[in-house]
Amino acid sequence: MSDTFFARPRFVILISGHGSNMQAIVQACQSGACPAEVCAVIASRTETAGLAWAASQGIETIGLAHNAFPSREAFDRALAEAIDRFSPNYVLLAGFMRVLTPTFVERFSGRLINIHPSLLPSFPGLHTHAQALATGVQSHGCTVHFVTPVLDHGPIIAQGVVPVNANDTPATLANRVLGMEHIIYPQVAAWLAQGRVHLTSDHRVQVDGVETRLFTPGQSS
Ligand code: GRF
Repeated sequence: MSDTFFARPRFVILISGHGSNMQAIVQACQSGACPAEVCAVIASRTETAGLAWAASQGIETIGLAHNAFPSREAFDRALAEAIDRFSPNYVLLAGFMRVLTPTFVERFSGRLINIHPSLLPSFPGLHTHAQALATGVQSHGCTVHFVTPVLDHGPIIAQGVVPVNANDTPATLANRVLGMEHIIYPQVAAWLAQGRVHLTSDHRVQVDGVETRLFTPGQSS
């Protein structure tokens, strides 16, 4: 049976800069660990390292300069139209540094995923690592969640935890968290591609066959 008969689920990944999470997901798809096809990488800027890397992998890329649009709504409309060209099963935000309008979020409701560099609901918003250090928490990490109109708030799919070390700076802590992001996001992407991730009626998440969705240091994906 040809491959097209069992077409793999389609992902579009949205980035704003380096795109290291996007790269980790693409590599998981290339290795077969994640049975999906990354149809496009779209950035909120026209020139980013992530776009160049994706193009080098033969993935279609689109750069939408958010500051070229008269309003947030106009940018989101153009972004939504670009995404719809690829008919994705899921849209993965990966280092996407734009707040999306409720209209956009509703349009992709149930298919919109994000990774946030903290253990939500702790430390929503920006500068999460500085927030963690300022509050003296001893554990920190990252969260992959469904996107809802409330920023950094949606149903949690998985989390990865890392220790906060005595001499950490925001940069050293960010680096440790980023390493964990590159473990949990490709794993969640694989679960999504396998059709195992379900939203319950009370806005919780279940993943078929997965007992624990908390990743710890040293644990392979
Ligand atoms: C990551 O910490 C991610 O959690 C946040 O943006 C940072 C950069 O991500 N949203 P990437 O290297 O662009 O994937």
